Amino acid sequence: MIQHIADTTTLNNGVKMPWLGLGVYKTTEGQEVRQAVSTALAQGYRSIDTAALYGNERGVGEALKASELSRDSVFVTTKVWNSEQGYESTLRAFEDSRQRLGLEFIDLYLIHWPVKGKFKDTWNALEKLYNEGRVRAIGVSNFQIHHLEELLSQAKVVPAVNQVEYHPRLTQEDLRLYCRKHNIQMEAWSPLMRGQVLTHPVVEEISRKYGKTSAQVVLRWELEQQVVTIPKSVHPNRIAENANLFDFALNPQEIAQISNLNENHRVGPNPDDFEF
Ligand SMILES: NC(=O)c1ccc[n+]([C@@H]2O[C@H](COP(=O)([O-])OP(=O)(O)OC[C@H]3O[C@@H](n4cnc5c(N)ncnc54)[C@H](OP(=O)(O)O)[C@@H]3O)[C@@H](O)[C@H]2O)c1
Repeated sequence: MIQHIADTTTLNNGVKMPWLGLGVYKTTEGQEVRQAVSTALAQGYRSIDTAALYGNERGVGEALKASELSRDSVFVTTKVWNSEQGYESTLRAFEDSRQRLGLEFIDLYLIHWPVKGKFKDTWNALEKLYNEGRVRAIGVSNFQIHHLEELLSQAKVVPAVNQVEYHPRLTQEDLRLYCRKHNIQMEAWSPLMRGQVLTHPVVEEISRKYGKTSAQVVLRWELEQQVVTIPKSVHPNRIAENANLFDFALNPQEIAQISNLNENHRVGPNPDDFEF
């Protein structure tokens, strides 16, 4: 059972990654992202999820530095954006991200989306960065089963993580089981469905039973299924609320009730129709 904010999952290469992190998509560069990250670190979060696309790596790095936490106590994820995919351009994009973050190394570097015709070259670049020790783990994002099969047919390093849209309306059960079978850690983006699942009567009823909020119940449901979760907020009270998940557990029936809300409904793009 996951009982503490700093509890970790062990990735397929032995690296430990916290189950809970702060997402910073749509958090503005500068004061807003510095404040969100500083608040999260003060609350005990030890994982931050950013991306070159978000335009806020500099502020994330500044907040990490200001926290004076040791480098090995915080887990930092960033991602290579679609326009930078390909071997040489990914190596350059990584270096740009690393410098903006002001870090010697990155904990987890992800391919943001499976750009057709390019993602295998991008993966070769990630393998090089990994072999050189410039990143502790490499993974993918928004990969469907067929993308993973294509990648695994030639990869030397199995992705450590697949970060995908995941919430009670989009449970991606086949993908979750495929990832588990191949020892790829699933990670949920938009874990709160950007707020759209919080007023569902099933979620509200369970939240009343435990005296928790709907957001806490949904995030706990993700943890119960061994899915890493990275809720985003810029509000200190919500950042604290989203981390207050470790004093209760859902029973198997409640987990199934929430999983049954699945409608294969996305709030973000479908990776197979994405306009790259
Ligand atoms: N790999 C990818 O392609 C991809 C795509 C999307 C997202 N992500 C990552 O996943 C992270 C999370 O996903 P997301 O930002 O799309 O959505 P989310 O975490 O599901 O939802 C964030 C939204 O919910 C609100 N919120 C947060 N906590 C709340 C609470 N306790 N009660 C009520 N509302 C709450 C936030 O508002 P306030 O900020 O105003 O509090 C924000 O509008 C991102 O930040 C990013 O790091 C990755």
